[in-house]
Amino acid sequence: MNRVKVAVVLGTRPEIIKMSPLIREFKKRGVDHDVVHSGQHYDDNVSNIFFRELELEEPELYLGVGSGSQGEQTGEALMKLEKAFKDLDTDLVLVQGDTNTVLAGALAAVKMGLTVGHIEAGLRSYDYRMPEEYNRRLADHSSHLLFAPTEVNRRILESEDVWGEIHVTGNTVIDACIQNLAIAEKKAELDFEVPEEFILLTAHRAENVDDPEVQENFIEAFKKIELPIIYPIHPRAEEMFKIHGNLKMLKEIDGMKLVPPQGYLEFLLLMKKSELIMTDSGGIQEEATAPNIRKKVFVLRDSTERPEAVDAGYCTVVGTDSDDIIDSVKNFQKEDWKPKECPYGDGKAAERIVDVIIGE
Ligand code: UD1
Ligand code: UDP
Repeated sequence: MNRVKVAVVLGTRPEIIKMSPLIREFKKRGVDHDVVHSGQHYDDNVSNIFFRELELEEPELYLGVGSGSQGEQTGEALMKLEKAFKDLDTDLVLVQGDTNTVLAGALAAVKMGLTVGHIEAGLRSYDYRMPEEYNRRLADHSSHLLFAPTEVNRRILESEDVWGEIHVTGNTVIDACIQNLAIAEKKAELDFEVPEEFILLTAHRAENVDDPEVQENFIEAFKKIELPIIYPIHPRAEEMFKIHGNLKMLKEIDGMKLVPPQGYLEFLLLMKKSELIMTDSGGIQEEATAPNIRKKVFVLRDSTERPEAVDAGYCTVVGTDSDDIIDSVKNFQKEDWKPKECPYGDGKAAERIVDVIIGE
């Protein structure tokens, strides 16, 4: 076993969820590791709740970066993470996904001569409006170990001549679904009434919720959809709907249940109970393919970096036009829907990643 001191960097809701199987695996196998939280997400319901529900250790360091412009947030995280790795005497830094925390963590580490591992490497949306597209590309090209969820991702990385070693592992989010759905079915506490049949909705991407025209298209579509909709609203989306004067209209849509961001156990349960999902989230597109979830997802975006979920029949990219959204939901026939197997692995991604890190 290689003796390495690992820093597990995270900063936002999906990073905490997707790193959780890995943190458990490090603990189980006695690998020396520190969890470093950038503080990009800081409200309890998008950060601490996941540490409690998933029974994770408190972060060794909490850097308090908080919100800001792209440059401010990334720059502050870069400076603070550099200091953190020095103070912790880190050998290997792991980042996950495509947030500003990821770019800052990868860049700080590679410039210090540390080994960098990028989990969820090789995803591409080819949508150059997205800050995430730059973050993931730059992280991939700064990493020594690239943990690609699928062969599609491996081929993308090879075509871009990345310098690091590529390992196809599956996605740790499937590990998280498999580890937590049964617990969710026992323990999740939904503090609102859930209709018998409903659509689960999330929307938070900057290119959607920051744009008043997209907000209006969404409102138009949600008004005409017949099933009740449950929308756990992300803090960014809530703020943006408010700024553009659309929050009241969104709340007052007949059948719309606007609720705060949910804990992971609660969200898993909502996914499981829903008729279908409408989302612009990345992680939810993957979770919908988990063998114990299997739900249809209409992706409220013009592109996806998860083509495997489309090919397997789970996701359909419908864009943000109101008629397209309404038609997709109306035409979906649940009884005839036969998706393929989960394309994101068997729930053992974290084990494979740890094998590579400790050289087993
Ligand atoms: C970030 C990621 C995005 C990811 C999402 C997960 C980047 C560029 N974006 O987007 O890829 O999908 O997290 O949820 O890294 N806010 C709060 N409380 C919080 C955190 C944020 O109110 O605890 C509000 C603030 O007004 C803030 C805004 O949300 O300005 C945006 O937060 P930020 O972390 O910059 O980006 P997200 O939209 O959350
Ligand atoms: N999620 C959650 N509560 C919610 C909404 C989402 O726990 O109210 C989980 C969801 O199950 C998934 C992750 O958060 O694991 C997705 O995060 P998000 O959509 O914010 O980010 P993305 O995946 O798009 O980067």
